[in-house]
Amino acid sequence: MLPDPALVVLVGPSGAGKSTWAASRYRSEEIVSSDALRGVVGSGPSDLDASADAFDLLERIVAARLGRGLTTVVDTLGLDDSRRTAWLAAARAAHLPAVVMRFDTPPELCRERNRQRDRPVPAQVLAGQLRKAGVTSTALDLEGWDAVLRITDWGRVPESAPQRPLGLTTPSAAERRSSQGLRFVLQVGRFPWGEDPAAWLTAIARAADDAGFAGLALMDHLIQIPQVGRAWEPIPEPWVTLGLLAGLDTRLELGTLVTPVTFRPPGITAKAAATLDAVTGGRAFVGLGAGWWEREHAAYGVPFPPAGQRLDRVEVAIETMRALWAPGTKAAAELPETTSYPRPAHDIPIILGGAGERTLRIGARLADAVNVRTEQVDRALAAVQGTDTTVSVLDLPIVGRDRDDTWTRVERLRGSTKASTYAERTHAGTPAEQRDRYGRLAERGVDAVFLAISDLDGPDDVERLSPLLT
Ligand code: CTP
Ligand code: MG
Repeated sequence: MLPDPALVVLVGPSGAGKSTWAASRYRSEEIVSSDALRGVVGSGPSDLDASADAFDLLERIVAARLGRGLTTVVDTLGLDDSRRTAWLAAARAAHLPAVVMRFDTPPELCRERNRQRDRPVPAQVLAGQLRKAGVTSTALDLEGWDAVLRITDWGRVPESAPQRPLGLTTPSAAERRSSQGLRFVLQVGRFPWGEDPAAWLTAIARAADDAGFAGLALMDHLIQIPQVGRAWEPIPEPWVTLGLLAGLDTRLELGTLVTPVTFRPPGITAKAAATLDAVTGGRAFVGLGAGWWEREHAAYGVPFPPAGQRLDRVEVAIETMRALWAPGTKAAAELPETTSYPRPAHDIPIILGGAGERTLRIGARLADAVNVRTEQVDRALAAVQGTDTTVSVLDLPIVGRDRDDTWTRVERLRGSTKASTYAERTHAGTPAEQRDRYGRLAERGVDAVFLAISDLDGPDDVERLSPLLT
């Protein structure tokens, strides 16, 4: 996998396949081509009289893009040592990785492709390029590039990410792990449901089931949080909403990520979850958290004690819920009796959200899973080591259908944040790039991914995520 964003300098003689390779994996805006710029300032791509002007422009475009931290693919012969080292220095100044793609296409193939062209390069010129390419290849190793990658057998445009085969019977939720071994749960925190909330929710849940998600989680807040939307956008009460989804013909596991312990006495959450579990035949889970947003508590008259006390309540809540779900009615936790019917249909998993030191300790001791952001995975894995508690992540990536779609989304969603910063923060990328990242998380020991996308507007957006789940 190539670094991204990065400076990518193509090196190779005419007909080596440089432009074709670049076009197959980068957006046209990302490719700065001397031939294309000859066409812009001259009579066409092979107007050699326009070379000086074209390279003037090329240097300015490269500098401007690198200065903004944007991926820049320099499509020239790449055989000019001084130009190459200047681009490398510009990438270094911009703190971008810099790589060379060296096209070691067999000379005979270059000649053949050159002959086929409308305006072939004279044979003498191509011979000179081939000689120079040989000399350059040794120079490259000494110039200080982060990587010099060789392309010898690049024969065809890579196919796009594999799609889920059609006509496959839907696996039961228990079997729903990706080939990388991960369970994916669609995390829904925004509800742009227009005039028909129930229709929108139904369509999202059905699409999640069809796409291969193992479950669906709802955010639990009283006012839409500023990180996700505006205060006047709908944020429904999740346990009621899950009741609607429970009535659909899906195999999705259903729950919250996360329910703050401050909102309801733990027995009331246990009751809702047990009911959901009973009516879904054992598909409920509970995400729990300490709560963090003072404003929503104040607005609803809900007490918001200091953090230490909220964490005390997390411990009590987990013990209380487990006691109410367990057989028998004897006194337990802080309760004089634990009479709770209906009984849940299975052991309801509790997932504790948050990456604070004490939160992770509580999670390792009492929860079935902890949930952290991808940057906090190492700490979470260390905290649960030697226990049965698993580690899940809440991931909020930008996922485009292809590279162009990815960057269109970045541009639409970034607000006033610098594009390269936003793309990095949201791990913006194609399904293939996301899978690469998830593969690494799975290798490190992550069990489940709660996947939230900020541009979840309808079922098509859920379908867009299906290549990640295979
Ligand atoms: N080509 C091909 N199969 C490939 C790569 C290239 O058939 N795997 C063809 C292209 O369609 C084109 C020719 O080979 O007609 C040259 O490829 P191109 O990418 O244009 O080569 P460049 O290295 O960019 O050549 P130049 O330096 O002249 O721009
Ligand atoms: Mg070219």
